[in-house]
Amino acid sequence: MDAAYADHPIITQLDDGATDIATGEGYYTSSLSAPGVVVDFLELLRPYEGDRVLEIGTGTGWTAALLSHRVGEANLTSIEIDEAVLDVAAENLKKVGYGPLLLLGDGTLGCPDQAPFDRVHVTCGVASVPYAWVEQTRPGGIIVFPWMPGIEPGHKAVLTVGRNGVASGRFSKRGASYMMLRDQRVPGGEYLGDYRESTAAVDPRRIFRGGVGLDVAMAGLMPGVSATTKPDEPFQVSLWFGESAAHVAGDEVTQYGDRNLWDELEDVFFAWIEWGSPDRDRFGLTVTPGGQYVWLDTPDTPVTAIKSRA
Ligand SMILES: C[S@@+](CC[C@H](N)C(=O)[O-])C[C@H]1O[C@@H](n2cnc3c(N)ncnc32)[C@H](O)[C@@H]1O
Repeated sequence: MDAAYADHPIITQLDDGATDIATGEGYYTSSLSAPGVVVDFLELLRPYEGDRVLEIGTGTGWTAALLSHRVGEANLTSIEIDEAVLDVAAENLKKVGYGPLLLLGDGTLGCPDQAPFDRVHVTCGVASVPYAWVEQTRPGGIIVFPWMPGIEPGHKAVLTVGRNGVASGRFSKRGASYMMLRDQRVPGGEYLGDYRESTAAVDPRRIFRGGVGLDVAMAGLMPGVSATTKPDEPFQVSLWFGESAAHVAGDEVTQYGDRNLWDELEDVFFAWIEWGSPDRDRFGLTVTPGGQYVWLDTPDTPVTAIKSRA
């Protein structure tokens, strides 16, 4: 009971079920999210009684129970990719007396049979928003998800679908870290072969402790690039994208592949400073049939366009 009521996530699956949870060691693949984060997301979702809701990532079924209570079980569809996880969720929901529609499948496809939805709530990390979610949401409806573009922690995104089939919205002030959608995980790689050595112009701690707004600027200007840091002495950074990578230890930089990812990141840092170091909630995301882009202040100022004007 202490664990259930503490404001912590409880990990319920490791390595997609391949590792026994009792070992406590492995890649986290399913959980009961921390209550505070679940409530934050439900407040951003603002479902009304009777709204048709799609949840992606049933997990333990807890959020599905809360949503069933709020909108009515007949209005909730929840999709989970892992059969064993879904079976437990179904039992949990039955025990507390709720019977929403539970589906085993890939949530990135949404659920065209039950569409349109008033609300779509994704409870796994999303780097790239599948357009199916926009198509399956009624104009004026909302899509809420943890946006996890490759640098921890992620961001809470709230997109409203317009009449033109385009969804846009800002990031909330508070962050979120979730398990990624299965097909959007980006494993770190081993980089071998030719490399270039240089000295960092900017102390990496200035960049990685610069503020979460800078993380959004980086995701917008260097889409698909992942980053991790180690707060050792010296502070270390790894960046990677496809065949390119950069490792920084203190001010020593090693770069591999076609792109000089560290040099690009220093450029992003200075662009963000020139914009006045905007915080996370001045940024937003727009999703169109052709893809997604990050903007500053309004959707008609994509960050890529502001940088190229500078
Ligand atoms: C953080 S847990 C969800 C927590 C859950 N909402 C709850 O209330 O307990 C994320 C879940 O998303 C599932 N998942 C990952 N990729 C998925 C996908 N493509 N489609 C559906 N579910 C997915 C994982 O198996 C995992 O159970």
